[in-house]
Amino acid sequence: MASDSKRFQAIISHCKEYGFIFPSSEIYDGLSAVYDYGQWGSELKKNIRDRWWKSMTQLHENIVGIDAAIFMHPTTWKASGHIDNFSDPMIDNRDSKKRYRVDHLLEAHAEALGIAGKNDEADALLKKTEALLAANDYEAIKKLIETNKIECSVSGTSNWTDVRQFNLMFSTQLGSVAEEANEIYLRPETAQGIFVNFLNVQKSGRMKIPFGIAQVGKAFRNEIVARQFIFRMREFEQMEMQFFIRPGSQKEWYEFWKNERIKWHTELGIPVEKFRFHDHVKLAHYADAACDIEYDFPIGFKELEGIHSRTDFDLKNHQEFSKKKMQYFDPEVNQNYIPFVIETSVGLDRTVMMVLSEAYQEENLSTAEKQDSRVVLKLPAFLAPVKLAILPLTKKDGLPEIARTIMEKCRSKFRCFYEEKDTIGKRYRRMDAIGTPFCVTIDHQSKEDDTVTIRFRDSMKQDRIPLQSVMNTVERELQTNS
Ligand code: GAP
Repeated sequence: MASDSKRFQAIISHCKEYGFIFPSSEIYDGLSAVYDYGQWGSELKKNIRDRWWKSMTQLHENIVGIDAAIFMHPTTWKASGHIDNFSDPMIDNRDSKKRYRVDHLLEAHAEALGIAGKNDEADALLKKTEALLAANDYEAIKKLIETNKIECSVSGTSNWTDVRQFNLMFSTQLGSVAEEANEIYLRPETAQGIFVNFLNVQKSGRMKIPFGIAQVGKAFRNEIVARQFIFRMREFEQMEMQFFIRPGSQKEWYEFWKNERIKWHTELGIPVEKFRFHDHVKLAHYADAACDIEYDFPIGFKELEGIHSRTDFDLKNHQEFSKKKMQYFDPEVNQNYIPFVIETSVGLDRTVMMVLSEAYQEENLSTAEKQDSRVVLKLPAFLAPVKLAILPLTKKDGLPEIARTIMEKCRSKFRCFYEEKDTIGKRYRRMDAIGTPFCVTIDHQSKEDDTVTIRFRDSMKQDRIPLQSVMNTVERELQTNS
């Protein structure tokens, strides 16, 4: 429950100041819980997305990727259960008219109890909340809010309505003529695009069970309590993989994917103790087992990824609603069946937030002679938006020309950044702030002996190397650290 809100606010400001993440349509005062990725944020996000895609599709022979449309036939959402079940219990404050998700209201209260040193009371409240939600006992939840004297942060009163369900899907109209228009939904998860294409992929790819289908894409949810930066947004990106298996083998594959996914996260250079599993007590409408991988964000341990054993729920329902057979013939057991599914579902934006939270460091570099400090993003080199900064010491004496030859040679291999302006110290600090792992400086000695200085972001160590070896040195470093 420990949270470090000062550090969190510093990361949010840093993201804005250095071109990672901006509030959406900020010139119009922004749009709540919607964010835009800037020049460096979009590079970082792409590097994470590409790494996930490669790990799923290139490094697993039996997993292929697809890119399904965001708009889907509306019956998809009836079959998937989202129209009937994809809702959160909410409560309104009658005075302020503000609506809250009840679990968030109770969690925030538990957090306040924890800060006040009442950890046992906080834990008991969280346990009780979880049990009541699992039992859908909304009357008791309302009582719990009242007995804890929880107040609305706007009106300051405890004048609450009953707890009600609120569907999280956004809808819109397909078709221009009102009478012909159909209500359709912006997908709340990418998974359904995989399920409806299960047979297309299986048949066209002659896939044999067990096999997986991966997808990365936007999802939309009308989150009521939308806060905490890119942790909870109304438009976000998911990286999901559905793994189709023989019924009865779900326990074994569930464990397999829990291990694989923790391994993937720790390979980003994050210590394993910063993760924990949280088993779901209240299972989603499609699952027979489910857990979250939680990461220790500056706002405390929170969900990063879900691993769900989805049984044959989705394919069976799509078969029923579409009247198309969703069966697979398994030659090994000589049987037709609807496959079971293990799903791994990680938020790309939450992964970006985790990587930034882990990388952000404020370092005091003061010496007896001088006060100094820096803010540095110690990103893994393979995720850094810029790999190499190329910095001529001055704008004259032929140094830019030499720097340009390095730029020409390296830029087709990895992302480079060229800059002449300001002192070299200021330029190093700017590169530290966006997480650039290597800088090369071209100085007057470079003209004499064809060498440059390479500076390493984390140690700030500087080495003199031949100009000709810059590209290979950076490529070697990128490879050994990937
Ligand atoms: N297909 C299963 C599914 O969608 P989920 O637990 O609802 O499961 C999976 O979502 C992941 O998507 C979460 O673990 C989280 O990382 C991300 N996610 C969900 N809602 C989000 C939101 N409002 N903003 C950012 N990421 C979100």
